Amino acid sequence: MNRVCIVGCGYVGLVSGAGLAEFGNIVTCYDIDTNRINNLNKLVMPIFEPDLKELVEKNIKAGRLGFTDNLSLALKDCDAVFIAVQTPQDDDGNAKLKFLFTAVEDVASKATGNLVVVIKSTVPVGTSKEVLSYIRLKFKERDITASVEVVSNPEFLIEGRAVSTFLNPDRIVIGCKPKGKACELMKSIYKKPSSDGREVVLCTNETAETIKYAANSFLAMKISFINQMALLCQETGADIDTVAKALGSDSRINPRFLKPGPGYGGSCFPKDTKALVRTAEKYGVDMSIIREADDSNENHKKILADIVASVMKKNGYSNLAVWGLAFKAGTGDIRNSPATTMIEKISENNFNISAYDPEAMTEAKKWIKQTGLKVILADDMYKALDKAEALLIVTEWECFKNADITRIANTLKGNVVFDFRNILDPHEIEKAGLKYYGIGRRYETD
Ligand code: UDX
Repeated sequence: MNRVCIVGCGYVGLVSGAGLAEFGNIVTCYDIDTNRINNLNKLVMPIFEPDLKELVEKNIKAGRLGFTDNLSLALKDCDAVFIAVQTPQDDDGNAKLKFLFTAVEDVASKATGNLVVVIKSTVPVGTSKEVLSYIRLKFKERDITASVEVVSNPEFLIEGRAVSTFLNPDRIVIGCKPKGKACELMKSIYKKPSSDGREVVLCTNETAETIKYAANSFLAMKISFINQMALLCQETGADIDTVAKALGSDSRINPRFLKPGPGYGGSCFPKDTKALVRTAEKYGVDMSIIREADDSNENHKKILADIVASVMKKNGYSNLAVWGLAFKAGTGDIRNSPATTMIEKISENNFNISAYDPEAMTEAKKWIKQTGLKVILADDMYKALDKAEALLIVTEWECFKNADITRIANTLKGNVVFDFRNILDPHEIEKAGLKYYGIGRRYETD
């Protein structure tokens, strides 16, 4: 049985730790934040993620999962140390590697024997080589002659479905020295999903690092493409939903990530696209397509915010209700959420804004405090409508999809609905006496 240590109990670290334990490994998760560790030991999760608590509980009970704030203890007898700390965006768009190298330094200063370091964090190509040199230097300073190997094992978990994407991955990418000891160890750590038929891609560290950025940038590009196409449909009278459906039925394109919306957000796409463009610049390569996908995404949110503001003004409205603050359904995460960006832009018009989200209210309170915006958080979705003349839907939660249209019509003081996820039936909205604004939808019965 392999003994694994995970450094960092955030989204990636915690889900990976619980997932690797479920695969049969003995896992100790370490975090510098004692409070987080104490909570985890009491089964209080630091994030909202379906099935995570159950998976953690099950594996603690099975004796395969534990949490500690003592790194030396976590490293004791462990075969591989997974680094799963955040690599946020730096001011210039590059990935900030400060937290990663602090974690690596901690490990290098406490490790006592042969070391296999597995980088799960998203890092620019070339980072694992730097980590290897760094640890070797530290070992030399400490007069340690033990061997060091660094593996790149990027994570593709999807927020809101993190547990199921970890347990049933489309592929597992392992970048390391071919036929090295670390390579065999990684195959054994992932034996369960690989024997279940999950694809394992064995490659160099550089290739593994690149795969992660290429995957996220490609998906971001797909979304920006469909959003631009939706804006064109808006002007030409074509219907984006039908266009997307027909595009998706071409097996070369596939239907996923072709849903028009308010733009992509979250902790990955916005920062990873920028970081890839910066990395390419360093190598003299112009990633113009990715840069444009990112610029277009920023612009898209502004275009939609301007539509809201101009329709509000045209109708003499000044009170707006917003449904959805999370960057997508299924998460309480508002990082880079199109909703918060749009609200910040719309607020420039001094409208009164009331907002509701089924999971993101705690994060939203912090955001309101930080920005000083005058956004009122409502206790439920219909209460948000109380004083509003118009409703703006930004996140595709089920409760919004199943909203009572008559109740919306009866509660709103005005009659405008902006559905920027295209989740409501425009006919029903108009039948209730409301004016419908989706993105690029053609719904008249002419
Ligand atoms: C993403 C990647 O999917 C995952 O593999 C990687 O590890 C981390 O980044 P995540 O950020 O959780 O995961 O969200 P995802 O479900 O991919 O959605 C990203 C954004 O794109 C969201 O804002 C979502 O609303 C938007 N989106 C997605 C669309 O607007 N249209 C789509 O068709 C799909």
